[in-house]
Parts: sequence; structure tokens; C-alpha cells
Amino acid sequence: MPAVTVRHATGQYQVHIEPGILLSLPELLGGALGRRKLVLITDDIVARYYDEWTHATPNARALGARSSDAGIRLRCEARLTFPAGEEHKTRGTWVQLSDQMLSQGLDRQTAIVALGGGVVGDLAGFVAATYLRGVPYAQVPTTLLAMLDASVGGKVGVDTSLGKNLIGAFHPPAVVVADPLTLLTLPDRVYRSGLSEAVKHGLIADAAYFGWIELNARKLLSRDLDALTHLVHRSVEIKAAVVTADERESGQRAILNAGHTIAHGLELAAQFRLPHGEAVALGLVAECRIAERMGLAPEGIGGRVLDLLRALGLPTRAGTSIPTPRVLEAMLHDKKNSDGEVRLALPAAVGRMHDAAGRWTVPVPDDLLADAVAGLA
Ligand SMILES: NC(=O)c1ccc[n+]([C@@H]2O[C@H](COP(=O)([O-])OP(=O)(O)OC[C@H]3O[C@@H](n4cnc5c(N)ncnc54)[C@H](O)[C@@H]3O)[C@@H](O)[C@H]2O)c1
Ligand SMILES: [Zn+2]
Repeated sequence: MPAVTVRHATGQYQVHIEPGILLSLPELLGGALGRRKLVLITDDIVARYYDEWTHATPNARALGARSSDAGIRLRCEARLTFPAGEEHKTRGTWVQLSDQMLSQGLDRQTAIVALGGGVVGDLAGFVAATYLRGVPYAQVPTTLLAMLDASVGGKVGVDTSLGKNLIGAFHPPAVVVADPLTLLTLPDRVYRSGLSEAVKHGLIADAAYFGWIELNARKLLSRDLDALTHLVHRSVEIKAAVVTADERESGQRAILNAGHTIAHGLELAAQFRLPHGEAVALGLVAECRIAERMGLAPEGIGGRVLDLLRALGLPTRAGTSIPTPRVLEAMLHDKKNSDGEVRLALPAAVGRMHDAAGRWTVPVPDDLLADAVAGLA
């Protein structure tokens, strides 16, 4: 499968997507980074799978003659690990990782390899953005969310007690290497949580892709490798096209926030116990309903999105564990930072976002927001 190219202000990078491609990681890193000292950063859960992926993948076994040297034979100067989980995507972990690199005397000839989910990618990318004023890095995403979303676009950073991703940078990777085989070891809930971002990509940009996900929901749920590879590839193409057009989020990139404003409110209200992808599923349903009520999208779009998310095993109701008044409170609180109004990027149809003369978001009245959020209960 051909690599996807992402262009940005100072260059471009390739996203390689193929089952078994981890076996070619050394060559791909060499091509993108040259002869640099590599530092592998990962979390403690992914570290446990590392040998399995690199020495016992079905592809590695099938490679026959090459099997003796199969596996990532990365010559790393250091392999740094931190405890898995969003709660460790902090400045504290950033300090630890940076200090470990400094104490080993690693110079500007260093490059970082981020192996893991979105937490590793954001954190290791932020270390790369700031270490000695910036060193190159490679994204090697191992969750569905990281493959089709987080590893592309160059946004890196950490959370603070006041909110997610509040400290960070734009630092595009030198290369992204996504091996769908790694997704086979993901826990179900983590795996499914990534699917809502793919539904979002279809909704915002490609009706045919949305239809393909509908037709292939069962295959995707059973992690059929061909279906998964196509899914990651098409989603990356869509995200790449949007971020290439608008690297720093001045306009069109706002469409990638579809479902996310309400998702954010839900995540805050649930104190981040709700996985991001599940919050996005709920946010997409609520925001589609708002688009219907504002007359921006045809009736029925919310139902179609809901049916697909349900078929993919994602939640479409918040249940009683997330108090909806708190969701609204969190969103209205956020409003203070955006000129006193909540603006949403809303669909015009499946595959196309509402565009009011180049403005990709519209202000939404508080009572409509309240109804849509209450409708999730
Ligand atoms: N930078 C961006 O543009 C962007 C976009 C979307 C999300 N994000 C960020 O991504 C993060 C969420 O990423 P995530 O959902 O990948 O979470 P995550 O990185 O926490 O991974 C989820 C869990 O899966 C484990 N894991 C990872 N790969 C595995 C594998 N192949 N097999 C078994 N277990 C594996 C991890 O150790 C972790 O416990 C959030 O912090 C979010 O803010 C960033
Ligand atoms: Zn998201």
C-alpha cells in the first residue's frame, strides 16, 4: 500500500501503513532520520509486547529465509519507559524523560522513536520538540486512535490539572510507521474507542468511506487485517489532506473537531474516566442532532451516525454515570476562552461539513446545546 504524504510549513513526511512493516522499521528510520542515535520511548504496557511484535508476528514467521533476522533490530542508545495511562502524560514525566536523556549526554545528533498509543506519541513528541531546542522523531503508533489520528498532524504536548493538552507544540514527525498487526493485542475497549474517529473522518469528508465503514462494521469489529489496513489508510489520507491545508488550525482544521466540543465537556464531567473515543461517539451523535435542529443538515443524519456507532460497539448514551448538567457546565465554562459563545463545526450531510463562507464553525444557542446533551442521558 503506498505511503501517505503529509506536507507542512517546513517540509513533508510519509505515513507508512502495512501489516508487518515493523520488520522494516530500521530501514525506514534510516531513510527518514539518517545516521542518528536513536532513543526509544514507550510505556510499560507496550514494552511488554515489544518482543512479541518484533519476533513472533505472523509475518515474521512467514518470512522464511528472513526470519532469523526478523524483528526490530534497532540499535538504540537508550530505551526509556514510563507508566502507561493518560495520568502520566504530564510535565513530570516530560522532566524525567528529558533528564534521563541529558544525563546520558545525548546530543543534537539524537532522534526519538515514539512507540505506543497517543499518550506516548504526544509525550515523546513533546520531549523531541523541546530537547536541546528540538530533535527529530518518528511516530510508531500502536493503537487505532494513534494510527488514524494522533500520530498525524504534528500536535504534541502534555496535560495539566487545569485541562488536557494545555502545554505543547507543533512538531511534525520525520516519519510515521503504522503496523496494523500491533492492533491485534489491544484490549477491546481501547480498540473500539479508535473507531469513532474513523466514523468522524467519513462524516466530515467522505460519504463513500462512511458507507464502506457501514458495510464492513462486522469485519472491523473482528479486526480483519485487510479491513483494518484500509481503514487506517483512508483515515490518514483524510486527516493528512485537512492538516496539509491548514497546519496551524486557523480555519478548515476545525472540521476535525466534529463531535469534540461536546466530547470535551463529557470527558471533563467524567473526570477523564470516559475513554476519548467513547466521548467522541457521544459527541458526534449530539452534534449531528444539533445540526438537524438548526436546519443545517437533513433529518436522519443523527440516526444514521448513531446506528453506525452502535454497530461498532460504541456507546450512544451517556447513562447515569455522567451527570449531563455537569457536561454543560464544563462546556459553558470553556466558553469564557472563546469570546462568550460555543461554536461547533457541524455536518451539512454525511461526507460534507457546513461551511459559512469559509467559516467552519457556527455559534450554537445554549438551549440547543442543553437539549442535545440532555438527549444523551
Ligand atoms: N496529537 C494529536 O493530534 C492527538 C489526537 C488524538 C488524540 N491524542 C491523544 O492521544 C491520547 C490517547 O491515545 P490512545 O487512545 O492511544 O491511549 P494510550 O496511549 O493511553 O493507549 C491506551 C492503552 O493501550 C495500551 N497499548 C498501546 N498499544 C497497545 C497494543 N498494541 N497492544 C496492547 N496494548 C496497547 C497502552 O499502554 C495504554 O494502556 C490522548 O492523550 C489524546 O489527547 C492526540
Ligand atoms: Zn479525537
